[in-house]
Amino acid sequence: MKAIVQQRYGSAEELRLIDVDAPVPGEGEVLVRVRAAAVNARDWHVMRGDPYLARVLMPSHFGPRGPRRAVRGSDFAGVVEAVGPGVTRFEPGDEVYGDLREDDGAFAELARVPLGCLERKPAGLTFEQAAAVPLAGTTALVALRDVAGVRPGETVLVNGASGGVGTFAVQLAKAFGAHVTGVCSPRNAGLVMELGADEAIDYTREDFTRAARRYDVILDLVANHTLRDLLRPLTPGGRLVTAGGGTSAGGRPRVFGPMALVIRAQLSARFGDKRVHPMPNVPPSPAALATLRGHLESGGITPVLDRTFPLTRAAEAVRYLEIDHARAKVVITV
Ligand SMILES: NC(=O)c1ccc[n+]([C@@H]2O[C@H](COP(=O)([O-])OP(=O)(O)OC[C@H]3O[C@@H](n4cnc5c(N)ncnc54)[C@H](OP(=O)(O)O)[C@@H]3O)[C@@H](O)[C@H]2O)c1
Repeated sequence: MKAIVQQRYGSAEELRLIDVDAPVPGEGEVLVRVRAAAVNARDWHVMRGDPYLARVLMPSHFGPRGPRRAVRGSDFAGVVEAVGPGVTRFEPGDEVYGDLREDDGAFAELARVPLGCLERKPAGLTFEQAAAVPLAGTTALVALRDVAGVRPGETVLVNGASGGVGTFAVQLAKAFGAHVTGVCSPRNAGLVMELGADEAIDYTREDFTRAARRYDVILDLVANHTLRDLLRPLTPGGRLVTAGGGTSAGGRPRVFGPMALVIRAQLSARFGDKRVHPMPNVPPSPAALATLRGHLESGGITPVLDRTFPLTRAAEAVRYLEIDHARAKVVITV
């Protein structure tokens, strides 16, 4: 089968479309014929080994000289081709979607998927739309519902509102009954408002950390402010959720990158600052995928696709997300 493979860290030029052996599903695993796979910020972080610190702190994803798994890609939607021993929940022909995360392998014609990484695909969505959901949607859901505990009537600010995670976060925060402010570049303000935000802040003109407005919840997906600045616009009892971030340096990996803010947030939380809530590592979750499917099928949330690329141009797709300020999701069709 064809797959996008990478042997060592570097730019998207390291990604090659080659023939590899088709995976064989083991106990509790499903073989999926991938119809579409989404690109996430995670893919270029793993591709570049960026930041260096991640190579030390996340050895299940990052090897010393290259990614732990050769085939890139985490999010997928497709059709069950075969099932391994012990699998009774799915059968060949079922349409599914999911998130392989550290197993990687979605930028390929076939993917071997553990049962804990997939769910039935939402009805009424194309494979491209469904593939756009798992990692970004799960991150937004867990951040707002479980980590921040957003309540109806609260004010929520999403920094990075036009990105993959941000576009789901804006819609989910509205679904939870919040008043939502999205921070984005001016070209994306219209999109963020269409997704249901009550207000959009243009970060090229206004720094929300210096303004008078206060928020009950701030979800930071960019890591372009200090922890102190991010805490300033919180209401008493407000919660800051830090979920990583970091726009690409487009060259040599940084040493700390967005992890500097994440580590500061973890230390503050550990020393008892109740305002600070660093995102835990959120593993793929069939329960979260089932909840998202409910929101998607009821029309409460909709994936936003910027561009699609064929598998033969997967390197271009990753480069586009990394370098060119893609809007919402970039998807690869297989
Ligand atoms: N902890 C977790 O479990 C977890 C899971 C998933 C993702 N993440 C992290 O969350 C981050 C966001 O992921 P993503 O998939 O949404 O990335 P993405 O699709 O690449 O989006 C990044 C967004 O950042 C925005 N941005 C850039 N500079 C900005 C600024 N100065 N102020 C406000 N927004 C700015 C961009 O908007 P414009 O184009 O409008 O500039 C873009 O929409 C990533 O770094 C990722 O590593 C963490």
